[in-house]
Amino acid sequence: MRLLGINGSLTPSSRTREVVRLVLDQAATDPAVEPELLDLGAYDIAFCDGRDPDGYTGDTRAVIDKIAAADAYVVGTPSYRGSYTGALKNLFDLVPNEAPRGKVAGIVLTAGSDHHFLAIEHQLRPLLSFFQMQTVPGAVYAQNIHFTDGELTDPAIRESCRRLGAEIVRLWRAAGAGDTGPAYPVITRKPGDGVRPTSARN
Ligand SMILES: Cc1cc2nc3c(=O)[nH]c(=O)nc-3n(C[C@H](O)[C@H](O)[C@H](O)COP(=O)(O)O)c2cc1C
Repeated sequence: MRLLGINGSLTPSSRTREVVRLVLDQAATDPAVEPELLDLGAYDIAFCDGRDPDGYTGDTRAVIDKIAAADAYVVGTPSYRGSYTGALKNLFDLVPNEAPRGKVAGIVLTAGSDHHFLAIEHQLRPLLSFFQMQTVPGAVYAQNIHFTDGELTDPAIRESCRRLGAEIVRLWRAAGAGDTGPAYPVITRKPGDGVRPTSARN
């Protein structure tokens, strides 16, 4: 099972990256799991301009392909303004609707405070549900006070990382990329939608 951890923070010393990595490590104690970390800050990703996803090249193409090739995900992001980051939203704007469809995902939200844990349910889970992804109930919510020198040291949050990793594997075993049931309406695009000839970006 190719398990892709996505870090939606562009901050070089990202706490979210540490938590996502920990969940990946925990899941990878199962020999069926091939973990990989997708750190959005390491890629030069274009803003979604509405073109057909096949039209992207370079780093943008590479991250879309990684999403499509994965069997399951750890989707991690810092809380920004009570929601997820713009970088993560842009990634999911780029991804073809069908690429993550039916696949299992676990959620990681980091934050500076205890104020915004419900963003997991009101912001992140609906984003993933748009793609008809199968999300593990519950999530890891790690606050800055749970870290020491950039390392997640709080025993309870480390335990929740272990449980999330184990649950991703368990749900994947039970359901795989399961039948998602009735599909939502398909959004069609006209050739040339969103392509600006003057754009130098990929
Ligand atoms: C632009 C910005 C907005 C933020 N908004 C919130 C917020 O609404 N609620 C919160 O608890 N923390 C907020 N934070 C704090 C981050 O979520 C927190 O520091 C997180 O651990 C950063 O993760 P990272 O190190 O992976 O980038 C914000 C930080 C930034 C830079």
